[in-house]
Amino acid sequence: MKVAVIGTGYVGLVAGTCFADMGNDVICVDIDEKKIKTLNEGKVPIYEPGLDKLIKKNVSAKKLIFTTNFDDAIRKSEVIFIAVGTPPKPKGDADLSYVENVARGIASVAKKPKIVVEKSTVPVQTCKRIMQVLDCNEGDDNGKCIKHLVVSNPEFLREGSAVDDFLHPDRIVVGTDDEKAEKVMDKLYKPLNSKILFTDIQSAELIKHASNSFLATKISFINAVANVCEKTGADIEKVAEGMGLDDRIGRNFLNAGIGYGGFCFPKDVEAFIRISDKNGYDFKLLKEVQAVNKGQRELFLKKIEDSIWNLNGKTIGVLGLAFKPNTDDMRFAPSIDIINTLLEEGAKVKAYDPEAMGRAKTIFKDKIEYCDDMYAVPKDVDALLFLTEWDEFKKIDLEKVKKMMKQPFVFDGRNMFNPKDMRAMGFKYESIGRL
Ligand code: UDX
Repeated sequence: MKVAVIGTGYVGLVAGTCFADMGNDVICVDIDEKKIKTLNEGKVPIYEPGLDKLIKKNVSAKKLIFTTNFDDAIRKSEVIFIAVGTPPKPKGDADLSYVENVARGIASVAKKPKIVVEKSTVPVQTCKRIMQVLDCNEGDDNGKCIKHLVVSNPEFLREGSAVDDFLHPDRIVVGTDDEKAEKVMDKLYKPLNSKILFTDIQSAELIKHASNSFLATKISFINAVANVCEKTGADIEKVAEGMGLDDRIGRNFLNAGIGYGGFCFPKDVEAFIRISDKNGYDFKLLKEVQAVNKGQRELFLKKIEDSIWNLNGKTIGVLGLAFKPNTDDMRFAPSIDIINTLLEEGAKVKAYDPEAMGRAKTIFKDKIEYCDDMYAVPKDVDALLFLTEWDEFKKIDLEKVKKMMKQPFVFDGRNMFNPKDMRAMGFKYESIGRL
């Protein structure tokens, strides 16, 4: 099948590459010439395990093309995925101007009917708007109005395991009111052998909001329980295990910590609150989910201050900056709020992350010290913070670390170590929801 993917951000790049690997002829389009040049040189602008190899393989097999030529890509393709950014506006609603521009572009360029698939995370009823724009087209070569078909196909991939998630999804959601579009989407996804749920368009759009918001709720719920554990002497790891054994609950997304970050959950929860509000429903539950999430960072900082007293003039080591392991993404990462507060309080910060150092430098500039490896961080620090649960941190030589530190305070924001073992080694150790 001939496929165009408009937008080579996280979702567009992974989807385009995987569709090519599934045997389709894919043209990935972006307005960013520098990015397209980088991709054509075989370099990948993001860190995502497995993606670089897959891109190289499909580019050399001529199944995958990167270009800035929008018009050509539209004319040559049967199915067009819209995967452009929908960044939050100052009040939290998604900015849909890029989506609208793409739809306008398709309406003016296409001379034959296309299947236009919305893959960016958008508010419910966006496809209706896309349809309105597409219906105002310049017509075919005889001037006859073209009937394009619109499909909602939300993406559920996670950063860090994006390729695997795309190729082995739990489910594929396709929202369409048209039988032909349903058949084409069924054929496109057939090679994945996954469950495809066909729904109406609005339901497909809402499944994405509801799924991400539910997962964020699960995280805030377990974090709230962790706070009660600390007050009552219970252990959140045991509580999560006991809850998770109930099939109806499940153990996934019950890891207590310093809260969720990344580009999806914070943005999507906020957008769902705004959409509900606009449609006359006050989604108070989700507002509390946000409050708990923010509170986790504050409680973590309070623990540090309660233990080491004044932060002014203290040196704090930070291991882990990315919002989660296996990515270099720092968007809405808890590390940003935590480090900024430490700096405001007058602390010096030294930090290391296996992949996010480049991004960190653009955020903190010369305000913090950047270390070349994880063992450079603990040297002469008053406290060591673990903010991302990278595998290499789990295997760190703790005896070596302890000898280097000025004071043996360790604050584990991701419950990576065993409190008893840490204390037996002489650390003053604090984690989340465990005494
Ligand atoms: C998420 C959704 O999982 C994915 O389906 C959607 O398409 C995009 O948003 P992603 O943002 O890549 O994916 O990361 P995810 O692995 O879901 O983690 C999100 C955040 O929640 C991270 O900050 C992570 O540290 C945190 N988290 C996750 C917890 O604090 N506890 C958990 O138990 C799980």
